[in-house]
Amino acid sequence: MPKRDIREYKNLSRWQSQSHSRTQSSIRKRKGKVKVINSIGDFLNINIFGWMVHYFKSRFGPKHKFQNYTSHNGVFQMIPDDRGEIKISIAADWGTNTEESTNIGQLMNAEHSDYTIHLGDTYFVGAPQEIDSNFISPGNPWPRGKSGTFTIPGNHEFYSNGNSYFDKLLPEMYAVDNVGKKLTQEASYFCLETEHWRVLGLDTGYNSVGRPIIELIFSPNAHLEETLLTWLREVVNLKDNKGLILLTHHQYTSSFDSRFPKPAQQLEKIIGSEKEVIWLWGHEHRFAVYGKYQVDGGIPAFGRCIGHGGMPIEVGSRKSIPRKKKIKRFGLVLTDNRVREFVDDTPVGHNGYATLTIRGNALTIEHKDESTWLMREEWTVDLNGTIAGKDAVVNSCLGLLQTAPAKFAIGLPEEESKLK
Ligand SMILES: [Fe+2]
Repeated sequence: MPKRDIREYKNLSRWQSQSHSRTQSSIRKRKGKVKVINSIGDFLNINIFGWMVHYFKSRFGPKHKFQNYTSHNGVFQMIPDDRGEIKISIAADWGTNTEESTNIGQLMNAEHSDYTIHLGDTYFVGAPQEIDSNFISPGNPWPRGKSGTFTIPGNHEFYSNGNSYFDKLLPEMYAVDNVGKKLTQEASYFCLETEHWRVLGLDTGYNSVGRPIIELIFSPNAHLEETLLTWLREVVNLKDNKGLILLTHHQYTSSFDSRFPKPAQQLEKIIGSEKEVIWLWGHEHRFAVYGKYQVDGGIPAFGRCIGHGGMPIEVGSRKSIPRKKKIKRFGLVLTDNRVREFVDDTPVGHNGYATLTIRGNALTIEHKDESTWLMREEWTVDLNGTIAGKDAVVNSCLGLLQTAPAKFAIGLPEEESKLK
């Protein structure tokens, strides 16, 4: 049973001091054996003393050492099923331990996927009991794939220095190889690959927090660690002919919020400026689809924000509909700003996840909410490793906010100039 109520996460800022305050509040309630069904009122009256105790207790101290693979190389071969398919279910910002996140976990479980992947942020600060309740303790709601499960960290895991992420969560993550041997995810990044496709989970969380207090003023750029870049250069052969699907916590582009272009610029040094990739991320608590996007010195990417895994989705405000200028400049094609229900007086939107189905050189991505599909997209990769969008369909019955034709989402060349 979920131990938290979605009301706890309403209006949750990514400002970490509030994160600490909220965890402190939750811990206080559990210790006091009070039934943990929190309301938004708990978070309007911030316990300054409690926040300070928790912040100083868990935020200060050294960040956990960045880890590399030691017993294997972190490149996992995916094995198709009898139908020649591989299915991967992915959620981001899922770790809230609410009825909503449990529901999404059950839906992902019902997909009977080969792999499941979490794109980070276990709330509120990735503390041991939060990792336990979401991923480890008996009956935890995180779904495991038939052949494995993985996670990359977001910023929230590092609000407690990443200790629980590295020491408690990673040892629970694994892939089963072709002889049934379990290989543990030993680092905060991984590669899942087939003959035609490569799914790369990359850690942008490690450098998304900085020094305590100072980080509240200057936001770090979420760059990729040199250890990870070395692994990409020397272990993963990124210059071969596989199609690339990138997974990170932080967004490359956004029409709603700030952007984190640095990882794309670091990757450009390895794979060049021509190779287009599909890129799924979270961090922003919404579902949003973008057309082709590329910054100076960065790689070209088709981005999908799937940060609607478990947090309440902010809808109904000015922030949930970006200005036209930002829509065009940063490539928004589609977003889901429907109201699912009112929690107290606050409208919240739909939670959801994505499934990737690989069949040879073909890839289908389905974006889903709690009850239906939102968008389907189909891709292929050719012998040179060049991806091509074949089709994109939006579920027109739902009334999603569509700012451009669906084909912009897969970058049909003749349409790209019109988007700009
Ligand atoms: Fe985040």
